[in-house]
Amino acid sequence: MKSISESISKVDIVEDIQQKFPSKRIRTGIEGLDGLIEGGFLKGEVILLAGNTGSGKTIFSIEFIYNGAVQFGEKGVYATFEEDERTLKRNMAKFGFDLDKLERDGMIKVVSLESMKGAGLNANIDFILSAIKNLQAERLVIDSLTAFLSANQEKFEYRTLMHIFYKVLKNLNCTTIMTCSVPTGYKTLGLGIEEFIADAVLTLESITRKEELKTRFLIRKMRGTNHSKKYHEVIIDEKIGLKIVPFSMV
Ligand SMILES: Nc1ncnc2c1ncn2[C@@H]1O[C@H](COP(=O)(O)OP(=O)(O)OP(=O)(O)O)[C@@H](O)[C@H]1O
Ligand SMILES: [Mg+2]
Repeated sequence: MKSISESISKVDIVEDIQQKFPSKRIRTGIEGLDGLIEGGFLKGEVILLAGNTGSGKTIFSIEFIYNGAVQFGEKGVYATFEEDERTLKRNMAKFGFDLDKLERDGMIKVVSLESMKGAGLNANIDFILSAIKNLQAERLVIDSLTAFLSANQEKFEYRTLMHIFYKVLKNLNCTTIMTCSVPTGYKTLGLGIEEFIADAVLTLESITRKEELKTRFLIRKMRGTNHSKKYHEVIIDEKIGLKIVPFSMV
């Protein structure tokens, strides 16, 4: 057993570290998630959300931006490379997420990167960064990193650019989700450098149970957080949006 003096000095050290490196938690507001990750993401973290097609990556990341604005008063930029802006807004309206209104209120900005195809990775990164600065956004989503990178030709320099991008996001203290598409049936995530750069890796995986398609969620890594290591089920419903629940409760 530890002596009292040992315990006290440890508490002092922890408090000292916490004062020097304050770590604000950014709540996602996604039902069932924040309780699994000590209350939320660490501010300024870069989170990779990897998942199969149709597993809920877009709904998950829209909720991060939407809840941030509506529940926590934090501004957010949503950069879409997958769906065009109109389709995205129409699909999300079915869940009651009025993105147009939030844009009019100056709380969020939906940036379509479709028009930036072929402009080069550097130009795309600049475009996103200026949107963050103009809005003074604290949250960012890039949906998806896969499309974002594949639309750009400079594969050879992408590692360097990703490192720079990561550092700039850290300096801006902007909490970022980057989605990543994983072909169904792949045993591994099949990710490259992104997996190691990211502070956190979350996965959404399509599985079949009793002839029914389900999605399971796992927090594969989250630096600095004592997170759940259990698989959870993802439920998508127009009334509640996306919800994360323990498997046993379903
Ligand atoms: N209105 C709705 N009500 C219930 N479930 C819905 C509704 N709209 C979509 N879904 C479910 O959510 C899934 C799509 O979610 P989402 O678009 O977030 O997935 P994704 O992982 O981003 O897909 P993609 O790989 O195409 O980008 C659909 O396949 C469907 O199962
Ligand atoms: Mg999507």
